[in-house]
Amino acid sequence: PAKALIDGFGRRITYLRISVTDRCDLRCRYCMPEAMAFSPRSEILSLEEIAAIADAFVARGVRRIRLTGGEPLVRRGVPDLARMIGRHLATGGLDELTLTTNGTNLARNAQTLFDAGIRRVNVSLDSRDPATFRHITRRGEVEKVLDGIIAATAAGLGVKINMVALKGLNEDEIEPMLRWCAAEGHDLTLIETMPLGWIEEDRTDRYLPLTGVREAMAARFTLTPLIDRTGGPARYYRVEELGARVGFITPLTENFCAGCNRVRITVGGMLYLCLGQDARVDLRGALRAGGPAALDALLDEAMTRKPEHHDFHIDRRGVAPAVARHMSVTGG
Ligand code: GTP
Ligand code: 5AD
Ligand code: SF4
Repeated sequence: PAKALIDGFGRRITYLRISVTDRCDLRCRYCMPEAMAFSPRSEILSLEEIAAIADAFVARGVRRIRLTGGEPLVRRGVPDLARMIGRHLATGGLDELTLTTNGTNLARNAQTLFDAGIRRVNVSLDSRDPATFRHITRRGEVEKVLDGIIAATAAGLGVKINMVALKGLNEDEIEPMLRWCAAEGHDLTLIETMPLGWIEEDRTDRYLPLTGVREAMAARFTLTPLIDRTGGPARYYRVEELGARVGFITPLTENFCAGCNRVRITVGGMLYLCLGQDARVDLRGALRAGGPAALDALLDEAMTRKPEHHDFHIDRRGVAPAVARHMSVTGG
């Protein structure tokens, strides 16, 4: 078997996030400015190139791939891409192929995604209140997302709800969201807002540390820590009274970088070694100039460049974000 991907800190890279587009039909206030500049079409990878890069990672021991964006389902052909990558599931080369989506186009794609081999999706839903949802996303209709979630469930997809915790915007909805998720059979993951890219709002004003949220939840419910992790950043708990699972993604209050198992590629074929750092290598250039062999060699080079941890700080009013690129460029 080919050599495993191990970084300079001994961490094994078994998980790849692929941003299939940096475009999105929404403009969540903590994610993008209203006037967001997207990559020109001339600079994006073809779906075949994305599949070739996925093949290279699978050959080097990546076991899980997540398609993200921007919003992955606004790019035509993404279900076909899922089918191409999904072939590795049948051969045992891959354990899991998943997708993170805002849900607006999920209803008409759910069955095709299931047929491609996807078994669970993460859906961003920061509020179930139509007015609050519209405010946070600047243009979204929550009904479409809820329809998408119903269609996904009907198609046999597990649904995990992602909720970015925002002070003064949705903090009152955390417990109702937890109860709704419990009733509907969805896991819930709460996320601390991260300082990626310039936005109009100062994230300092909206930042809600999840340690406090978890303490408040623990005062109302019995939270049993779960050891089974998805290999991702979330720490999960069972909420005994509700029979629900809740996860906390706490880059600001509880750093989880020591267990990092992942790297991410942009739609332009740049491999970023950390969500919160600029370290990167150009896979597109290598693939186009030197083919699969050059690509494979660059993966070894990349491993020597993976940073030990991010340097996010959010409690610095008025200070530029730690990283200039937006979350939508590397898909989280
Ligand atoms: P799995 O790990 O595949 O279960 O999913 P996930 O929860 O990591 O994926 P999802 O796309 O739903 O991302 C949820 C949140 O986690 C987003 O805000 C991501 O930015 C964040 N996230 C994912 N990976 C990392 C990471 O390596 N570092 C940090 N700081 N945040 C991450
Ligand atoms: N901080 C934390 N999470 C973010 N997301 C987008 N931007 C940010 C940010 N700045 C979330 C989305 C989606 C997930 C992929 O990342 O809400 O659920
Ligand atoms: Fe789009 Fe997701 Fe960013 Fe919202 S958080 S604007 S849905 S990419």
